[in-house]
Amino acid sequence: MSRLVVRSGAPLRGQARVPGDKSISHRALMLGALADGVSHVTGFLPGGDCMATLGCMRALGVCIEQPDETTVVIYGNGLRGLQRPDAPLDCVRSGTTMRLLAGILAGQDFDSVLSGDPQLLRRPMRRVVEPLRAMGADISDTDGHGPLVIHGRKLHGGEHTLTVASAQVKSALLLAGLFADAPTTVRQPGPSRDHTERMLKAQVNGKWQMANGESATQPPLVIDGLTVTLNPAIVDRLEPLKMVVPGDISSAAFPLVAALLVPDSEIALLGVNTNWTRTGLLDVLAAMGAQVVLTNEGEQGGEPVADLVVRSASLSGTEVGGDTVVRMIDEFPVLAVAATQARGTTVVRDARELRVKETDRIATVVAELRKLGAQIEPQDDGFIVTGPTRLRGATVDSHGDHRLGMALAVAGLVAEGETAIENAERIADSFPGFVGIMQGLGGDFTV
Ligand code: S3P
Repeated sequence: MSRLVVRSGAPLRGQARVPGDKSISHRALMLGALADGVSHVTGFLPGGDCMATLGCMRALGVCIEQPDETTVVIYGNGLRGLQRPDAPLDCVRSGTTMRLLAGILAGQDFDSVLSGDPQLLRRPMRRVVEPLRAMGADISDTDGHGPLVIHGRKLHGGEHTLTVASAQVKSALLLAGLFADAPTTVRQPGPSRDHTERMLKAQVNGKWQMANGESATQPPLVIDGLTVTLNPAIVDRLEPLKMVVPGDISSAAFPLVAALLVPDSEIALLGVNTNWTRTGLLDVLAAMGAQVVLTNEGEQGGEPVADLVVRSASLSGTEVGGDTVVRMIDEFPVLAVAATQARGTTVVRDARELRVKETDRIATVVAELRKLGAQIEPQDDGFIVTGPTRLRGATVDSHGDHRLGMALAVAGLVAEGETAIENAERIADSFPGFVGIMQGLGGDFTV
């Protein structure tokens, strides 16, 4: 699928289950590999990014079976059991793979290289390399980017105050902290996704004892507001994982916004992760006048889940900034599409991070939505959209960015005539089956 053609038409109706959460699927592979014992993970996301992590973990000597696409069985090697890879590890286009693995590999007793596609090698890596060096890691980058050449060694504990609210950086440091000689504390400037903490907590906070047999006064992982501390002295092993990965709200965002915008639609998205660190889009859409109802609320894989029921609504512009930006960092391409159909002005600020995602999402979202007739102005740290605009179908380009590709497909559902999205195959990096799910809901999609 390199070209996806979308036409506006019938309302979206029915229900769908979106694929498993990408962030959790990556972490399940890495934490399962470091566990003592066999981890069983269902609802795994078999998207390109997570398959890159799977390939890297296998190259590090971990046996991982995939009896069906969404199930992985990980035979953990234990905290000290990874093996030296024979070749550079290929992270393909996955920033999460490169940054989190940098943390794990910095503390091993072997050397390794993390590399990937040109798109990934353009993304900033100093944000993990510098704090890892402060822990004593021996890592060289290439002008602040990958490939990363890592000479594994024993790491030191310490305190880190992050300047960007990035779950990837926080997670890299906590994972490196498993191999440090003293506690690692990470202070975040904002509430980034907390899946690493939830999963690690489940793996280490069950039984805790000092290596010398004495009882510790605090569990190994302690969270105090935006500060997380991991004390490796109390962690001699990680428990294997038995979990069902919940649906990814960052994938649900596309059919959800589509149903809001296409008149007379009503859909339900089942089993979606509603972790507060990920639900910024729901808050923003509510402020714009949308009603997304959460039903069947429960818990899955240590995360809150719910079915999201959404029907079309008329939206008004809003302002997004501050901590909400971190809680919806992957949802801005599709929010921009929603904003083109909202009455008034939508202002996004404090979102400079968008410039270093799979593409510079401020530049690419603005350029591609303008081709459809949107009134959108780039800002240094965000964008301003004036609506509502009657979009007109055109040929647009995903620039190899999965979320931009899907956002443009949602725009195609409300644009007059036909919208052709070039380079659409990368959608499978995070949402394999996107086209089938949208067709199942009634979307006019052709590949
Ligand atoms: C992710 C964190 C976010 C997000 C990415 C996945 C993660 O990146 O954009 O898609 O799994 O930790 P940052 O931590 O760099 O903001």
